[in-house]
Amino acid sequence: MPTKYRFEPLVDDGSDNGPLYPSPPVGPKTSVKVLLLAVLATSIAFNVLQILFGVQPLNMARFANAECRSQYVNLQEKEVEVKWLQQSKYTNPNAFERDREWDRINYDTGIVAVPKPWALQKGLALGVDFPWDTSKSVYFVNAFHSLHCLKYIYKSLMEYREGMPQTSGESHILHCLDQLRADVECSADDTLRWATPDRSKSTAVGQTRQCRSFDELKAWTIAYPGCYRFGNATFEDAQDSQVPRKRYCPEGSPELDVVRSYFGKGSDWTPANDPVWSWFDGE
Ligand SMILES: *[C@@H]1O[C@H](CO)[C@@H](O)[C@H](O)[C@H]1NC(C)=O
Repeated sequence: MPTKYRFEPLVDDGSDNGPLYPSPPVGPKTSVKVLLLAVLATSIAFNVLQILFGVQPLNMARFANAECRSQYVNLQEKEVEVKWLQQSKYTNPNAFERDREWDRINYDTGIVAVPKPWALQKGLALGVDFPWDTSKSVYFVNAFHSLHCLKYIYKSLMEYREGMPQTSGESHILHCLDQLRADVECSADDTLRWATPDRSKSTAVGQTRQCRSFDELKAWTIAYPGCYRFGNATFEDAQDSQVPRKRYCPEGSPELDVVRSYFGKGSDWTPANDPVWSWFDGE
């Protein structure tokens, strides 16, 4: 993990001897309601003041940096300025180069294992148990699921272009399109794309926008490794045991020794050193 990002441990390591799996807390939800009521009341009061005395409403943008944090990873809104690109390596007209860039998109780190008490505190339903430490539950971070979907859609188009048989069924591709559609609606991104005056109908040329830091999100996923690799899904999905897919614990993670003993390997064996599977393996 880049040292640039330091993440607080998600739970104290047992120092308070609290229950291991507390019920989802009622407190925060109640306090959120109270907070919302307070915000609503303040807003109504300002509207009344504004109507009566022409008082300017608070400029909420001033609070955005301090207040608007993402729900699970605590990412800051408007953390980085990102330029919109009309062309990028993912639109390279050279199909050979472009295919390899899309192939290099890796979303394996998006599978994370987090302490169950933390997950419950966040109001999450428990995911599947992390096999190497059952006090943790496994999740797939949505941004990485969306990358997975984009990559599968690209691959489907690539296979169509090359007249190759489709690796993914239509239902998987449709699911992926629908998830991306839902992402778009959920983020309801209201950034206004600058409309250029020329005939090309391109918008947002040379424009920047304010984003959360994907690098920081990625660093967070690396800090809570789910040790999972999709690999060649055609092959892996067909295996009776899915455990080998979950063996890629990085050096330094507390679970690596558990993985080693499960697979009867010595302390010099590190599954994370295995080459990452590529669409073009065997070419
Ligand atoms: C992926 O696995 C399938 C099924 O085993 C195999 O036919 C295919 O060649 C593999 N693809 C690559 C690129 O390794």
